[in-house]
Amino acid sequence: MIKNSPDWLKKAVFYQIYPQSFYDSNADGIGDIPGIIAKLDYIASLGVNAVWINPCFVSPFADAGYDVADYYQVAPRYGTNADLERLFSEAGRRGIRILLDLVPGHTSIEHPWFKQSQQAVPNPYTDYYVWNNSVWETPQSDLPIIRGLSQRDAAFVANFFAIQPALNYGFAQPDPQHPWMQPVDAPGPQQVRQEIKNIIAFWLERGASGFRVDMAASLVKRDPEKRETARFWRSIRDWMDETNPEAVLVAEWGNPAQAVEAGFHADFMLGFNNPGWVSLFRKRGEGRWRDPYAWSFFDASGHGDIRQFLDEYLYHYEATQPEGFIALITGNHDETPRLADGRDTAQLKLVYLFLLTMPGTPFIYYGDEIGMRYQRLPSKEGGYGRTGARTPMQWGDGANAGFSAGPEESLYLPIDPAPDRPTVAAQDANPDSLLNRVRSLIRIRHALPALDADADFNVVYAESGKLPFIYSRSKGGQRLLVAVNPAGRPARAVLPGEMIAAQPITIDAPDSAILVRSDEGWVLDLPPVSGAIYEISG
Ligand code: NOJ
Ligand code: CA
Repeated sequence: MIKNSPDWLKKAVFYQIYPQSFYDSNADGIGDIPGIIAKLDYIASLGVNAVWINPCFVSPFADAGYDVADYYQVAPRYGTNADLERLFSEAGRRGIRILLDLVPGHTSIEHPWFKQSQQAVPNPYTDYYVWNNSVWETPQSDLPIIRGLSQRDAAFVANFFAIQPALNYGFAQPDPQHPWMQPVDAPGPQQVRQEIKNIIAFWLERGASGFRVDMAASLVKRDPEKRETARFWRSIRDWMDETNPEAVLVAEWGNPAQAVEAGFHADFMLGFNNPGWVSLFRKRGEGRWRDPYAWSFFDASGHGDIRQFLDEYLYHYEATQPEGFIALITGNHDETPRLADGRDTAQLKLVYLFLLTMPGTPFIYYGDEIGMRYQRLPSKEGGYGRTGARTPMQWGDGANAGFSAGPEESLYLPIDPAPDRPTVAAQDANPDSLLNRVRSLIRIRHALPALDADADFNVVYAESGKLPFIYSRSKGGQRLLVAVNPAGRPARAVLPGEMIAAQPITIDAPDSAILVRSDEGWVLDLPPVSGAIYEISG
């Protein structure tokens, strides 16, 4: 049973911070937690009220921190636990909640649990990870097996990269051919579950408001329908509802229907699982997840097809009603290229109008609010092609774009060298900038109950190959009509006369947008690359 979400989540707009690239407070070239604190007023100025920080714990950084070596300790390069606690309280004073990144599926091979587990002599950590019975075992299982990295005569299962051994949550359907596949109630899996609970409790006690959960679907092995994985998360959610009802869990699952059923408050639509989301913002043939047939819907060519997104979205939307949310993202540290690539400011403004008027919990990836661009760079910390979407935030004109006072060679990653690279300072000063548009759209979202995460969503007009895309949002007697036209040519729609009782109030629309009553019904004319929000009654 899914319980109610905390009220704050219904008003949440999230900002994602990749800590190594946000702001360097001590001139060592790497962003850090005091740096995030120093920029809290900026974050508050966006109007966002929640932040998710990528993993900031002790790690050898073979996967940018998704290879945790100590879940209880902030990585020295980012600061101290006291800094993180200060971030919780300083953010809290500004009405901003902080979500940490929980990596429950695997640790680093440097984690003390793994160092014990890989020993030949049995010890309390022997069954913390998924090990077979011998390095020479044949037939190998269908899981990715890493051999030769242990004292113990066994191979372990990797969860992602080879240096990320899978923690042992047991097997939903153990293979009798492989007796080492332990059932979910075996002592090892039960101990691992308790460890994860302890980690959650530790950070919630210190002021975290919840977690983005890495690879949330990956825990129990041979669990094709994810029933056992879901059972574990539901037990965590029930316990959190009892002990921390204000805290939230956002899954990295890529399947909101499944994740919300499993107890998550929200789940992302993501490149690896949601071609519909890819079809919104990524250009034909671009990026890591090449989809040769798709045109981006938000493309001035007008060749995109909103149904590619909408059919997938509606499936998840209906399945997650009434209390679970879909998190639509501008991008993240894994998605390539960045939202701004191949889009001008007008197009980006329209994307934000859409994103910030849709249901659920929108997430803005740092830098996307100013239109930072993807960089072609060699791999850093296991980033590979993702590296170029992780470059330092561009604050201003100064050295290193104001990211760091350290020498240029010391920077975590090079800064966009383009002379016209976007910066916060320049866009702050320009009332028409993308940054100021994002701020005003967030203000609109917060001011209107019908734009809450849980306000109703209904499709009004969404036809394959046709524009505009029109939907309504409503809550507590307020009803809004939102229309978007990504094409570089005007778009017209005619809506049934009975749909709108009186002349709508314009909440936000370009001067040349027109919504008038005619003999045929309500005629809506949108200029090229534009969107409009109207308040309608009836
Ligand atoms: C998903 C994270 O977002 C990604 O950056 C990481 O490499 C993998 N999970 C492994 O933890
Ligand atoms: Ca630093």
